[in-house]
Amino acid sequence: MSSPAYAVRLHDLHPSPDDIRGDVLDGLSRQPKRLSSKYFYDAHGSALFEQICEQPEYYLTRTELAIMRAHIGDIARALGPRVELVEYGSGSGIKTRMLLQHLDDPVGYVPVEISRSALMASVERLGQMFANVEMLPVCADFTEAMTLPRPSRARERAVIYFPGSTIGNFDARDAAALLRIMRAEMGEDGAALIGVDLVKEPAVIEAAYNDKAGITAAFTLNMLRRFNDELGADFDLDGFRHRAQFNPMAERIETHIVSQRFQDVHIDGRTFHFEPNEAMLVEYSCKYSQASFARLAARASLRVTHSWTDPERMFALQCLERAPE
Ligand code: AVI
Repeated sequence: MSSPAYAVRLHDLHPSPDDIRGDVLDGLSRQPKRLSSKYFYDAHGSALFEQICEQPEYYLTRTELAIMRAHIGDIARALGPRVELVEYGSGSGIKTRMLLQHLDDPVGYVPVEISRSALMASVERLGQMFANVEMLPVCADFTEAMTLPRPSRARERAVIYFPGSTIGNFDARDAAALLRIMRAEMGEDGAALIGVDLVKEPAVIEAAYNDKAGITAAFTLNMLRRFNDELGADFDLDGFRHRAQFNPMAERIETHIVSQRFQDVHIDGRTFHFEPNEAMLVEYSCKYSQASFARLAARASLRVTHSWTDPERMFALQCLERAPE
């Protein structure tokens, strides 16, 4: 390790804090009830997600990593020299490190992350490892358009990195809107490198979201525990269960929290009634074929220039560039 050659410049765009209370009250008032998957990720939920990634049934993380290990030379060549690497979410994991190690003279690393603490921890670690790469953390919500900081050294192009199939957690309309934002941010000669989970045998996909050890179930129900802790709600965690099913028409996993009986939940003096088997949607995990992902990209005036996949075609890393409007 060596000391960083650049001072870390934080670009704080002051993202508005989540209005958890307002969102939850609104989501529970709907028919059917619905809660956002972003509320999975408090400290405990993030630790459970790390454990999910290690479950034997959750093939996504290890397959993406295997693709990177097998093709990193090609990927780095396709992205070219002097890249400004922009990551949506704060990476510090092995995939980001691998990219920074293999890119030819990357000039800057720009993690875009809403949590200031996660953001600073990530650049602290990576700054130690990559002293010649300027760390330019941006505290912002990446689903909102922004102007990216420019590194001190001239960049050849900006590359937006969005690994892990997180694009799958957006429904088609929101995913297309996010790709449009990437298109604007990458500029004329830029690119995006996106991890995408591919459609496959439904049983394999469903197993990934119903691991035998019950970690995904705990991850899902942790959202209710969080609402009890942070909002003073009185969800009885034993009165609800996790359900993740593949919807073949929509090609996505739909995760619900299902009430096990008649019950009432109270928040802020308001009462929310649940019927037995009443299901609240909490997450989509959309899966794509090569063709359906290319169509999604086209909706945002982007085209797939390269696609790296594993021998069983479970997962793909897609490289996108601008197509004419
Ligand atoms: C973060 N995201 C890509 C995960 C997924 O596969 O949709 C979140 C997750 N939900 C349940 N298991 C993992």
